[in-house]
Amino acid sequence: MRKKIVAGNWKMNLLLDEAEKLNKSIDDAVNQNSFGCEVYNFVPSIYLKSIVDNSKNIHIGAQNGHPEKVGAFTGEISMNQLSAIGSKAVLIGHSERRQLFNESEAFLKEKVNAAIEEDIKVFFCCGESLEQRESGKYIEVVISQLKNSLFHLPVEDFQKTVIAYEPIWAIGTGKTASPEQANAMHKAIREAISKVYSPAIAESTSILYGGSCNPANAKTLLSQSDIDGGLIGGASLKTEDFLTIISTYK
Ligand code: PGA
Repeated sequence: MRKKIVAGNWKMNLLLDEAEKLNKSIDDAVNQNSFGCEVYNFVPSIYLKSIVDNSKNIHIGAQNGHPEKVGAFTGEISMNQLSAIGSKAVLIGHSERRQLFNESEAFLKEKVNAAIEEDIKVFFCCGESLEQRESGKYIEVVISQLKNSLFHLPVEDFQKTVIAYEPIWAIGTGKTASPEQANAMHKAIREAISKVYSPAIAESTSILYGGSCNPANAKTLLSQSDIDGGLIGGASLKTEDFLTIISTYK
């Protein structure tokens, strides 16, 4: 059985007290309920240490990490710095990093390698733009993102990763992929994993959907056969909304 995962991506939101309060309410709820999924929060790096130290029932990850271990990279945080404070998961390849910070596929590949070396769980994000969807080539686009930055991993390392499919046109726009569109992409990703690795590895890889997932649409999206959870932006900032999404897997 594949692991079900619901992960919050807070992006550049919340002040410290708000962040701590939100995280505590999620951590407590996960403690009190037996949800059928693992819960992660990807929090702003400035809060990582305090939030890691105060989370007992959920996993806390970083939204970014630099591939080099040390050096003159003003403003950056290395994967081994993340690991040293106990943050054991990282988002890599989010479309906002690809687009707004010009992160190349080669650079993402280096980040993947650095995270794996530090035993940090990689949540690798992929997804096509609206133009790419309309061109009809969206499956090729997404599979090539995976080939260029993730599929070089040996099987024992690939098995530790999670994939998040996030169509760019659905992120923060209020437009979601239909459950059928999302499930079809997830199936295509699974087929690609099966070819590169094996059918058994493909069957055991968790593939999350992200992009305007909210309490109203979570149930239908997250119950599709090849969708193993969600990467949630906006709706992860409100306790009640995020908990409703998590409880899809009660
Ligand atoms: P959204 O963001 O849920 O606000 O669309 C998802 C993401 O970017 O991970």
